[in-house]
Amino acid sequence: MTPCTESAFPETLDIEDVPIPESELSRREFLAVSGVVTAGLVAGLPRVAVAQTSKSTPQTFPVSLSINKQTHQLTVDTRTTLLDLLRENLDLTGSKKGCDHGQCGACTVLIDGRRVNSCLTLAVTAQGAEITTIEGLGDEQNLSPMQKSFLDHDGFQCGYCTPGQICSATALIEETRRGALSRTSFETGKISHPEMTDDEIRERMSGNICRCGAYPNIVAAVRALTSTGGAA
Ligand code: FES
Ligand code: FES
Repeated sequence: MTPCTESAFPETLDIEDVPIPESELSRREFLAVSGVVTAGLVAGLPRVAVAQTSKSTPQTFPVSLSINKQTHQLTVDTRTTLLDLLRENLDLTGSKKGCDHGQCGACTVLIDGRRVNSCLTLAVTAQGAEITTIEGLGDEQNLSPMQKSFLDHDGFQCGYCTPGQICSATALIEETRRGALSRTSFETGKISHPEMTDDEIRERMSGNICRCGAYPNIVAAVRALTSTGGAA
C-alpha cells in the first residue's frame, strides 16, 4: 500500500501545472469553469453558486394606491412592503415597525376593512384596494369611536403599539357584526354570532402585542364598543 506521504498527495496543486490537451479546452476556459465549479462545491450548492454570478437588478412597477381615500400614483420597487411605502414614501408614520416579521401587529392597517400586517404585504399587491391607516380613521378633532374608547379607557402607555391596536380593534367590530368565528368560539361551542366576551376579545386581539402590558385597558376599550356595535 502506498504510504500517504507529502510527495504522493501534495497539499496544494498549482492549476498552472495541470496539463490540459490544447484540443479539448483552452487554459483560460478551464480556469473560468473550474472557478465556478469549485465555489459551488465548497458551498455544496452548485446551482446557487452559478446564480450568484449574475447581478440582480431591482424591478420597479407603477401602481395606483388608494390610501385614506386619496389616490397615490407611484413607481415602487416590487420588493417594497406596504409598511415601508407608507412610512418612507408617504410620510404616514402612524403605522409602526415593531418586528418587521408579522409577529407584533404594530404595523396593522386595514385593506378593504380587513386587518393586515403591512410589514408582510407587498405594496404592489394592494393596488385596487382601499387602504386605511390610523391617520385615515380619525384625527385630533374628529376621533373615531375606537380611538375615543382607547382614550376613555386609558388603553395605552407608551403608545407605540396603539395605532395597530386601534386598527385591529376597528376591524374586530366589523368581524363581530359579520359573525366571524375565532378559536375561542369553537372551544366554547358558540359558533353562531358568538358573544364578545373578554376571552373572545383577547383571542381576536392576540396578534397585537403590547410591550407595556396595557392589555386590561385595551380589552376594556374594545369591550365598550363591541357591546354597542361600534357606536361611541
Ligand atoms: Fe409588522 Fe411587527 S412590524 S407585525
Ligand atoms: Fe406601549 Fe403598547 S402602549 S407597547
